[in-house]
Amino acid sequence: MRSATGFAPGRINLIGEHTDYNDGLVMPIALRLGVAIEATSRDNNMIRLTTDAAVAPRDVAYVLGAEERDGTWVDRARGVTAILARDGAALGGFDAQITSNLPIGAGLGSSAAFSIALLRAISTLFDLALDDTATARIAHAAENEFAGARSGMLDQLASVYGHSSDALLIDMRDQGTQVIPLSPTIELAVIDSGTRHEHATGGYNRRRAECEEACVQLGVASLRDIDERPLDEMLERLPPPLDRRVRHVVTENARVRRAVQAVRSRDDVTLGEILNASHRSLRDDYEVSTPQLDQLVVLATAAGALGARVVGGGFGGSIIALVQRGEGRELAAGVLEGYDGAGHVVAIVP
Ligand code: GLA
Repeated sequence: MRSATGFAPGRINLIGEHTDYNDGLVMPIALRLGVAIEATSRDNNMIRLTTDAAVAPRDVAYVLGAEERDGTWVDRARGVTAILARDGAALGGFDAQITSNLPIGAGLGSSAAFSIALLRAISTLFDLALDDTATARIAHAAENEFAGARSGMLDQLASVYGHSSDALLIDMRDQGTQVIPLSPTIELAVIDSGTRHEHATGGYNRRRAECEEACVQLGVASLRDIDERPLDEMLERLPPPLDRRVRHVVTENARVRRAVQAVRSRDDVTLGEILNASHRSLRDDYEVSTPQLDQLVVLATAAGALGARVVGGGFGGSIIALVQRGEGRELAAGVLEGYDGAGHVVAIVP
């Protein structure tokens, strides 16, 4: 019997939401929170997973090579082992104990963190020598081909390459990355609304299909291709809601570019305004916010945040609020006092 461990962090995203699957720009920051896995090999083909997280099931077993979807979180593990086996990796059965200090389904990349932690543990256990790029690719394939969530690669790339005290600018066109150090005068409060999304069955896949339909109607391969063209002319050619969806994606890419300048020049006020504009766009044009997330954003701004917005896929989950360094805890506590739901502070970043 051999044992191995794997860890992978969750992420926030400073700016650049729903741009990843449109060949656009994103700017994630890795969290210090994440998923840890301890795996021990078995002498048969059984895979057994147990977890301390508040998910169902908490103890489950399946046979390697007989992976069948059941619509639960376990599909991510089934996807990982099925894809590894399909790619020719010599795997065997194993027991995996999963622990997580990252809230699950809170828009903080927990699915990707789980798949990547599992891949890291398995890679060591079976001497697969998977590098970060392969790890991100397989985790993404498990999500898309097996779990049925047609997500982009933001979460996986943020988890393998992200830094916890810098933003990482990623151009999804070529996956080129650039480290953008955060100004020492700011921090971000990450607040979980306590309400949950369901990517696979929810609006996420629909948004992606709407973007694909807009590309067909505009005759382009990806929405990145219209970045340089006059936006109004593009929007006139689209029926609602496709025009609103496209306006979000194109203006969000522009906001990422402006955010990079604001971070570099330490213009914290402008950065806050860019986050607020991103929230309005996600709320009104992309329609992925919820009343709870909107309330948290309003409360954060009223309490003195420089800016705030929904983070991740939306349809529930978390917000980030930009504040002066040292003010995050107090601001978040004030926000939660006024909040109608049951939320909590996940982290203060960095
Ligand atoms: C989820 C997806 C990512 C990305 C974000 C929105 O986190 O997994 O690929 O699309 O939503 O930016």
